[in-house]
Amino acid sequence: MENNLDLVHPQLSKLGYIASPIDKNIDLPSAIQQLKKEKNAVLLAHYYQEPEIQELADYLGDSLYLAQQAAQVEADIIVFAGVHFMAETAKIINPSKKVLLPDLKAGCSLADSCPPSDFAAFKAQHPDAVVVTYINCSAEIKALSDIVCTSSNAVKVIESIPEDREIIFAPDKNLGRYLIKKTGRDMILWDGACIVHEAFSFEKIVSLAKEHPKAKFIAHPESESPILEIAHYIGSTAGLLRFVQEDPTMSYIVATEAGILHEMQKRCPQKTFIPAPVEDDTCACSECAFMKLNTLEKLYNCMLYELPEINMEKGLMEKARQPIERMLNLGRS
Ligand code: 13P
Ligand code: SF4
Repeated sequence: MENNLDLVHPQLSKLGYIASPIDKNIDLPSAIQQLKKEKNAVLLAHYYQEPEIQELADYLGDSLYLAQQAAQVEADIIVFAGVHFMAETAKIINPSKKVLLPDLKAGCSLADSCPPSDFAAFKAQHPDAVVVTYINCSAEIKALSDIVCTSSNAVKVIESIPEDREIIFAPDKNLGRYLIKKTGRDMILWDGACIVHEAFSFEKIVSLAKEHPKAKFIAHPESESPILEIAHYIGSTAGLLRFVQEDPTMSYIVATEAGILHEMQKRCPQKTFIPAPVEDDTCACSECAFMKLNTLEKLYNCMLYELPEINMEKGLMEKARQPIERMLNLGRS
């Protein structure tokens, strides 16, 4: 087991903590369960996390489900096994809780593709537009938005906007294009993308589908348009999971982050799931390197030291809360 100071975030050393190496004999899953009880903490995990982290989660789900759960947590501590914007969202909607993220460097290419100052200038060019932002963005971008959405409820969110209103959609242009087709609403798109969902190879998927003629091809809407055009089903992580459980087919080629295959296989042990191939044969591009920064060791240290903690300026949190709450209220109605 890796055992060094890199496993502990710099916040610890700044605060003067000396990270003692994790004892090799510690059973990390049991120790993490024990820490949850001792510290009155709940663990929220996204489907893109490593399987051993998914197995420890109190709540496992897609971005919408995790945001809904985060809003309702009564425990003292929320440990978010996901990426930074997810933990930030949890803090914004449940600010009295201590929110921890095992590795603060667990970012997101989509969130990074939308710097707040550039987005503010873009928004200023369309002063009458309603600003809809995908939850995969920073708190600063949420604060510039009218309403937030996830891939699970984006259609519902867009359909809630009066027909005569112009819409800006950011930051994911692929999801945006998909939504334009699906809802028939013309939207002004920000030019951002997810590196994981843009890595899939159209040609390789087509030839893999020929090798598996009985398999259905399913894809997340963050994927590029040509890939979505050949998909039998398009949906959020939770949507894809639901589809494979309800559909009678026995095998699927899956174009989303490979972490979801763990839960698919668990719920449908008799079915076969094949990760969609990526352009670059030399990398595991269908795995989100940001999501995979979280490890059991970091999770353990994070719970032990209660660091790194997510904190934001109060004014920013207040501005970012309203658009998230608008989304949550719509989801529950
Ligand atoms: P969902 O959880 O909404 O499916 O989004 C996938 C994703 O890319 C999360 O970062
Ligand atoms: Fe961001 Fe894509 Fe990773 Fe999701 S999978 S966290 S959208 S980079």
